Amino acid sequence: MTPAPTLRPRRLRRTPALRRLATETRLHPAELILPAFVREGIDAPRDIVSMPGTPQHSLDSLRRTANAAAEAGIGGIMLFGIPERRDAIGSAADDPNGILNVATRAVAEEVGDALVVQTDLCLDEFTDHGHCGVLDPDGGVDNDATVDRYRAMAIAQADAGSAVLGLSGMMDGQVAAVRDALDLAGHEEVAVLAYSAKYASAFYGPFRDAVESELTGDRRTYQQDPANRREGLREASIDLDEGADIVMVKPAMSYLDVLSDVASISPVPVWAYQVSGEAAMIEAAAANGWIDRRRAIEESIVSIKRAGADAILSYFAIELAGWLR
Ligand code: PBG
Repeated sequence: MTPAPTLRPRRLRRTPALRRLATETRLHPAELILPAFVREGIDAPRDIVSMPGTPQHSLDSLRRTANAAAEAGIGGIMLFGIPERRDAIGSAADDPNGILNVATRAVAEEVGDALVVQTDLCLDEFTDHGHCGVLDPDGGVDNDATVDRYRAMAIAQADAGSAVLGLSGMMDGQVAAVRDALDLAGHEEVAVLAYSAKYASAFYGPFRDAVESELTGDRRTYQQDPANRREGLREASIDLDEGADIVMVKPAMSYLDVLSDVASISPVPVWAYQVSGEAAMIEAAAANGWIDRRRAIEESIVSIKRAGADAILSYFAIELAGWLR
């Protein structure tokens, strides 16, 4: 007969009270950030078919959602703008009357200090070709010319009242350049969130519907190869050297190893983004009755935190905060 085990980890799983006391990772609403889309020229929210529960907002519905986020006690909101008109250089991005900057002002005014108002700093929503930067004559994305555009965007977003700028374009030198532009403009107080390890991912699919992206082709000359782990650490180290206040890994669930690596070396907060396709997989499977929606959401977010994220961007932020109460 097999001898009785001497080590019995099941002891700490025996009752709900023991499990509650033995849990290693606990979620809190304050570490959740809601990404939200605002579209120019609409006066009621519009559904995004691939993103149930996440609409394209009008300014009014965005204000209401920001209030709901504040009431739910989440930490922040990350704004994305969808302009009516696009051009080669994304002119609407640094126009104070551009939709993202108008919405930032509206939300900052609405929620005051109850929520950290943050903005996506990237050109893809604003360019008619859909790339995250401006193109050179051969159709490639011109790194340094793009970074100049980011400098102008940064000042416009800071002027509008964004407290944290989410640099998601993956151009070389973008963090140092934006920091410099902000400081020169007297915006030393505005923080830079670097999407440090951002992979060229299939999981951004629904997001491209959300922003009505015009992209043909892909982003592989600037976003990272999903096969590369070491490179994620290098990107984060460079952004830290350039003065990033927060570094991020994106997507989250397929990159938990990268997240864990970055968390182990970073002296600043490390965030992760549970992207649109990650949410869509949960929604679609749950809609088919194949997984338990609430448990899948909770498990996905707790896994991201367990891997090392200090805060998490998630389309489920408000709903999850409600369950955590
Ligand atoms: C770039 C940006 C993207 C996402 C966030 N910022 C799209 C991309 O890089 O193609 C994707 C987020 C998501 O899928 O939820 N502006």
